[in-house]
Amino acid sequence: MNNEEIGSKEVFTIDCKDIVLREFRLEDLDELYNLTLQPEITDYLPDWKGTKEQRKKWLIDFHMKSNEKFLKAIPNIGEQWLNLGIILKETNEFIGWCCTGPKDELPLPNREIAYAISKDYRSKGYTTQAAEGLVKYLFENTNVEVLNAIALTRNIPSNRVIQKCGFEYINIIEIENEEFHHYKLSKNQ
Ligand SMILES: CC(C)(COP(=O)(O)OP(=O)(O)OC[C@H]1O[C@@H](n2cnc3c(N)ncnc32)[C@H](O)[C@@H]1OP(=O)(O)O)[C@@H](O)C(=O)NCCC(=O)NCCS
Repeated sequence: MNNEEIGSKEVFTIDCKDIVLREFRLEDLDELYNLTLQPEITDYLPDWKGTKEQRKKWLIDFHMKSNEKFLKAIPNIGEQWLNLGIILKETNEFIGWCCTGPKDELPLPNREIAYAISKDYRSKGYTTQAAEGLVKYLFENTNVEVLNAIALTRNIPSNRVIQKCGFEYINIIEIENEEFHHYKLSKNQ
């Protein structure tokens, strides 16, 4: 079951063990913005830095719009991004995000999964649960046959999450003068 009623609007969710993945909502702005203030996140994901006003605009104009298009397009999701918050079941707190969309720098088929989690909730297996939940959802409900994941060679926890999800190591690729490990996972692997 991937839809939950909140108020009158159906909200897309993916249920995992300790966390739920839930489509970004405008109400997430403060918690999402606070996460992007953590250098422990933005040192690895500098594109997520911005002012609160920018974050609000990106949330509405990019993340929420692309989610709507993605969800309407299922199963043929094409180039759309799906952006999901990682919500801790125990407290309902928005502790991170797990997203999927095309990564322009990769060869086709170039859909990737990407994620981040608060410095306060690391090494509890939550991101692995999130990534596994998203991968399972994509392979079971969309036309995606291959997924990619990349992580800076020095980003040990991220490489570990990708490996724990069963991705196969491909090679090292260089993007903007930085070296990343590139992995792939096939639906029938
Ligand atoms: C990458 C990230 C999402 C991992 O989240 P997480 O919820 O802590 O991940 P998990 O708990 O599921 O798994 C982390 C694994 O890394 C391991 N790990 C963490 N730090 C480590 C270290 N310094 N050395 C060795 N292993 C380490 C953990 O032990 C765990 O592996 P295990 O289950 O085999 O013990 C988190 O560190 C993060 O948000 N980083 C900043 C953003 C980022 O890098 N995003 C990815 C961009 S490619």
